[in-house]
Amino acid sequence: MTIRRMTGLAAFALLAACKPQAEPAPVTAPPYAAQITLQDTMNHIIDPEADVIWHATGTVSTTKGVVEYSPKTDEDWEAQRRAALRLLEASNVLLIPDRIVSQTPFESAGPGVYSSAEVQHQIDANRAAFNALALNLRAASQRLLAASDKRDVASLLELGDALDQACEACHKTFWYPAEKVPRPPARPPSP
Ligand code: HEC
Repeated sequence: MTIRRMTGLAAFALLAACKPQAEPAPVTAPPYAAQITLQDTMNHIIDPEADVIWHATGTVSTTKGVVEYSPKTDEDWEAQRRAALRLLEASNVLLIPDRIVSQTPFESAGPGVYSSAEVQHQIDANRAAFNALALNLRAASQRLLAASDKRDVASLLELGDALDQACEACHKTFWYPAEKVPRPPARPPSP
């Protein structure tokens, strides 16, 4: 062993002796911070992707009768996959705490529908329920991703409904818990 190395080791031993026990790294919360409102998240992140899924399958009336349509080309399926991926990750966006509902307050849209202040209050008071409903969206999106990877049209159709239910479950709790849908007249008015 060279002198230099020995001195080095000795210095290290000395340092080790003097140094207090290494402190565990401080536990800090990850610096997630909501950057946009819930309203913008809905209108510009979640809703456009859900539309990609919902518009991909359906029927149209043509001169040859009712024709079903569904994704066919590689691009069509890539678009489904992209929408599923974005919805899936959007479930995390919903879990980030302290997101304000809207920049400009909005009034209730009718009986049984919350104003922005009421939506905010409900989310703040029932955060665990809100998070659970965001996880519903995650589960629906995971299944949509699997269906688009398998190019499975039947599942895509079915999962479009499941997606809608995931949206509605949260909306019915945090947005329009007792919306009064006008009843259609019992008997259609006579012409
Ligand atoms: C975990 C809860 C939650 C989930 C899941 C959720 N939303 Fe929402 N969404 C809300 C709340 C709360 C509001 C009402 C406040 C607001 O308007 O932002 C809302 C409002 C909206 C609005 C109206 C935005 C506006 O202009 O005021 C749209 C559109 C919307 N959601 C679409 C969707 C779609 C589509 C899905 C499913 C793919 C979905 N949401 C899933 C909580 C949710």
